[in-house]
Amino acid sequence: MKAILLAGGKGSRLFPITFGVSKQLLPIYDKPMIYYPLSVLILAGIKDILLICTSEDIDSYKSLLENGSKWGINIQYKIQKSPRGIADAFILGEKFIGGDSVCLILGDNIFYGLDFSHQLNNVVERTTYGSEATIFGYTVKDPHRYGVIEFDEKGNPISIVEKPKNPKSKHAVVGLYFYPNSVVQVAKSISPSERGELEISDINKFFLKKKKLIVETLGRGFAWLDTGTPESLLKAGQFIETIEKRQGVKVACLEEIAFKKGFITKKQLIKQAEALEGTSYGNYLLNDYR
Ligand code: G1P
Repeated sequence: MKAILLAGGKGSRLFPITFGVSKQLLPIYDKPMIYYPLSVLILAGIKDILLICTSEDIDSYKSLLENGSKWGINIQYKIQKSPRGIADAFILGEKFIGGDSVCLILGDNIFYGLDFSHQLNNVVERTTYGSEATIFGYTVKDPHRYGVIEFDEKGNPISIVEKPKNPKSKHAVVGLYFYPNSVVQVAKSISPSERGELEISDINKFFLKKKKLIVETLGRGFAWLDTGTPESLLKAGQFIETIEKRQGVKVACLEEIAFKKGFITKKQLIKQAEALEGTSYGNYLLNDYR
């Protein structure tokens, strides 16, 4: 399975913060935002990643992430010239995806919860060998800001609406999606919405209509955090700080996750940590692994 990490967009709800820096590079407590979705991909065991961003930001992403080899992964880059929507990622990434299944994750989504790794591994396996797409639903107070899924009494998904004025449920679609290879053709077949974007919800509706959409739930014990406004950005940072300080563990520490996944050796981990010695991030790794 391949993965696309989407880090485009203007971050307009965060202006003027994002006039000079990409939103997904802003700090969430002690690390850049993009580390969090990247940690999800590494946890899912995916090694081939295409990062899509604007032409202004590509050099910043390259300085930060390089080719990914420091975490035992391969990162390639692609520019999205104009914001044509989330589903445009599959068209831009067609060559990269080749004949594989693909995961798409939004660069501003933060996931934190027990057993997530296990859940991800099951979805990766099912998508790699099957023909179904998988999306995740999460209960929110303000569903009108998201794609919203409606279920029947048996719990089967029956509709998906992008940012509905009158949401039919409180189940938002999170920014993490798994598709079989056919998604590329589906993306090419949909038309732009009223706001001129190729909507990811239209892709999901296609799979729903074909009865090929599985919706997994992220339950109460799970945190799916938003980072789109100054307030939610701050709250997300505070959440991570609280967990990290209380438990003495780091969330989305890429070297640690890559090591535990067997993507890098302990020697590589220590080498990278030594370059960060003196920071809380570097010292955390050195205390535990040197
Ligand atoms: C996008 C999707 C929406 C999804 C959300 C998750 O919205 O269009 O369906 O619920 O991401 O973060 P955006 O906030 O990018 O407009």
